[in-house]
Amino acid sequence: MGKKIFSGVQPTGNLHLGNYLGAIKNFVKLSEDKDNECIFCVVDLHAITVKQNPVELKENIRETVATFIASGIDPKKNIMFNQSQVSAHSEAAWILSCVARMGWLNRMTQFKEKAGKDKEKASIGLYSYPILMAADILLYDATHVPVGDDQKQHLELCRDIAQKFNNDFGIDNFLKVPEPLIQKNFSRIMSLKDGKKKMSKSEISDLSRINLKDDESLIINKIKKAKTDTLPMPTKLDELGKRPEVNNLLIIYSSIKDISLEEAIKEFSRKNFSEFKEDLSQSINDKIGPITKEIKKLLNDKNYLDKILQEGCIKASEIASKKINKIHEIVGF
Ligand code: AMP
Ligand code: TRP
Repeated sequence: MGKKIFSGVQPTGNLHLGNYLGAIKNFVKLSEDKDNECIFCVVDLHAITVKQNPVELKENIRETVATFIASGIDPKKNIMFNQSQVSAHSEAAWILSCVARMGWLNRMTQFKEKAGKDKEKASIGLYSYPILMAADILLYDATHVPVGDDQKQHLELCRDIAQKFNNDFGIDNFLKVPEPLIQKNFSRIMSLKDGKKKMSKSEISDLSRINLKDDESLIINKIKKAKTDTLPMPTKLDELGKRPEVNNLLIIYSSIKDISLEEAIKEFSRKNFSEFKEDLSQSINDKIGPITKEIKKLLNDKNYLDKILQEGCIKASEIASKKINKIHEIVGF
């Protein structure tokens, strides 16, 4: 039986290689299976949990949908829409926030990281963010949610919320408990400057990441400057534990080439770092170059992108409004 796939990406600009290898590449693969029903959401309500410039936000929404299409998701066969246009997401999030427990949310590590030292100044939205994410998923009866490893804890919370709602109202299996789909070969793509930090949109140094809009020469330059160490190229997997930056670069290479990490190590074990870096830049450019070109082309046709989002909104609303109506009934509204 096919899967019901739902995933979301925040329109916060600077989509990067981590987003692509950790999530979007998987979206594309899942969307190519005719048996699957896929919904990909540009989660603009999530984006405003931290301050956004309204003009840039509008552009970033288009850019995110352009990235989906440019990466290979067919807008005719899959639903793509932006979250704020389907009001059931906000409604369901409120109702589910009355089901979720403070103790559960207090354990969320992403909030702790994003709020930093001054939690008092973080928005309430940043704190309740995973409840909105649960609403996104549960409105569509999604069976599988492809995400990067950093979202695993949020998905566990979503599962807990679904189970508690079903228990509280005594309706078995009404909210479907979804399964996460996470890349098996690596947990996250790390910064090019620090192998212990994840590659992130919000990192100040642009040299820490490969953006999907970077051109060929910039990619070559960023890989050239990527941090490594003074040892020769590794020859065995167990050498990588203490070499996070080298590990990360080899993971990027293996993931782009769809080979195992062991195969990547073998390919470069007798070569030097500069040769490896040249091949790595080449492989990134071969993969990302055509996507970058297509993103730029699509961004010139705003009407087309807006039309995709409008059509997606109609289809998504149809599904979500049925579910929220049932939720209203169950709750007693
Ligand atoms: P976001 O931009 O935070 O909405 O993330 C979109 C998707 O990319 C989510 O599924 C994340 O888990 C995934 N993701 C973000 N950063 C990374 C990373 N450095 N490595 C792997 N996956 C990532
Ligand atoms: N929280 C996710 C992230 O930052 C984005 C997201 C929002 C999402 N809603 C979702 C992912 C629903 C999967 C399913 O990456």
